[in-house]
Amino acid sequence: MADKKAQLIIEGAAPVELPILTGTVGPDVIDVRSLTATGRFTFDPGFMSTASCESKITYIDGDNGILLHRGYPIEQLAEKSDYLETCYLLLNGELPTAEQKAQFVSTVKNHTMVHEQLKTFFNGFRRDAHPMAVMCGVVGALSAFYHDSLDINNPQHREISAIRLVAKMPTLAAMVYKYSMGQPMMYPRNDLSYAENFLHMMFNTPCEIKPISPVLAKAMDRIFILHADHEQNASTSTVRLAGSSGANPFACIAAGIAALWGPAHGGANEAVLTMLDEIGDVSNIDKFIAKAKDKNDPFKLMGFGHRVYKNRDPRATVMKQTCDEVLKELGIQNDPQLELAMRLEEIALTDPYFIERSLYPNVDFYSGIILKAIGIPTSMFTVIFALARTVGWISHWKEMLSSPYKIGRPRQLYTGYESRDITKLEDRK
Ligand code: SDX
Repeated sequence: MADKKAQLIIEGAAPVELPILTGTVGPDVIDVRSLTATGRFTFDPGFMSTASCESKITYIDGDNGILLHRGYPIEQLAEKSDYLETCYLLLNGELPTAEQKAQFVSTVKNHTMVHEQLKTFFNGFRRDAHPMAVMCGVVGALSAFYHDSLDINNPQHREISAIRLVAKMPTLAAMVYKYSMGQPMMYPRNDLSYAENFLHMMFNTPCEIKPISPVLAKAMDRIFILHADHEQNASTSTVRLAGSSGANPFACIAAGIAALWGPAHGGANEAVLTMLDEIGDVSNIDKFIAKAKDKNDPFKLMGFGHRVYKNRDPRATVMKQTCDEVLKELGIQNDPQLELAMRLEEIALTDPYFIERSLYPNVDFYSGIILKAIGIPTSMFTVIFALARTVGWISHWKEMLSSPYKIGRPRQLYTGYESRDITKLEDRK
């Protein structure tokens, strides 16, 4: 992995040799671990040029719009796989055999219920609380329930925690929604697929159990696949950092949910729909494009741009195809928001400002339109993202804990006061 070297020439000091590590694919990395011996740190706010870890789970080629999960292109997984199979792949490194898949699906199904006492946690929230605030709270509360699997150094405990999280997130997400609606919470059903079960818990009531549309279930499952994992993004890095202190896995996932909530990250899917509502009509697009380009205006085109993709986000392409399929299947012609989004994309992608900065639609740009067509309220969009991304978070948590690791503890460039003595209160001016 390290047959090349970089040499750091520091004025007045001996040159420093740093190993260059090479991965399977993607950029080499300069191993700076020995730099502390020189009494210096690297400086990289936002980690624009920093590889925080070694991983085998997901690879993104931002220049060519490629996303691989354990080597499989996202387009193939979206078309030929399903979410639980993708979960197995992310967690275990290989696609399951038919027998392994049947066993995994059955195991997940048998963990979809949550402790009955968890329902009482909801009563502490206002009914109009943001669903992500409630999700953060109740997922964190799970860390108070599983005393049988608290040893994170025990692979079996790590495995059951991963299964419980994948299995229970749809149940909790649906409970969050039902609580906001003042409707009774629905129990999971073992005769339904993962996505069907989620839609059942979301939209059925004890008064009427309607069959779940296979079209909507397939669209939901594909949306889960498209959000499953994405390398060392902000929320995944948060889960890894929390996990590096040895924290409870459910608490680590709650930390990931908190990080995902921001509009610059997973909160963008909700912000896209809010933005489209604000734009309202194609005639206003130019005004909002101008706002997005104005350095003095904090407005950004939500759903556009990405730290890694400097080409189209491959998930956005699949999402747009799914959007067309779902709206067609639902008989929704000329959805005004879709029309507006497509026109906005068209105009933005001919504008030099967006072209020069490689600002393309990302995973969040079209997802909201499908979620809305499925009947999911905008405020629940990021909860759906958190539900789907949990398998990615816990796969990275497992990967980190499965080999030697250190607690994450970055340093800093200090520009504050040097040491000084305190003055008495009466002497302060
Ligand atoms: C997700 O990391 C991941 O993998 C995340 C994610 C995942 O699956 O985990 O893919 C999910 O979070 C997708 C991104 C969702 N966020 C949004 O859609 C919010 C809008 N996008 C921006 O906030 C922004 O593009 C980011 C946060 C996504 C990326 O920001 P960067 O990499 O820090 O880039 P930047 O803010 O420094 O932007 C570079 C330039 C700047 O202009 P200049 O200073 O060079 O003149 O591009 C401009 C920015 O002002 N810019 C935008 C813009 N995004 C960047 N201008 C207008 N609208 C935008 N959306």
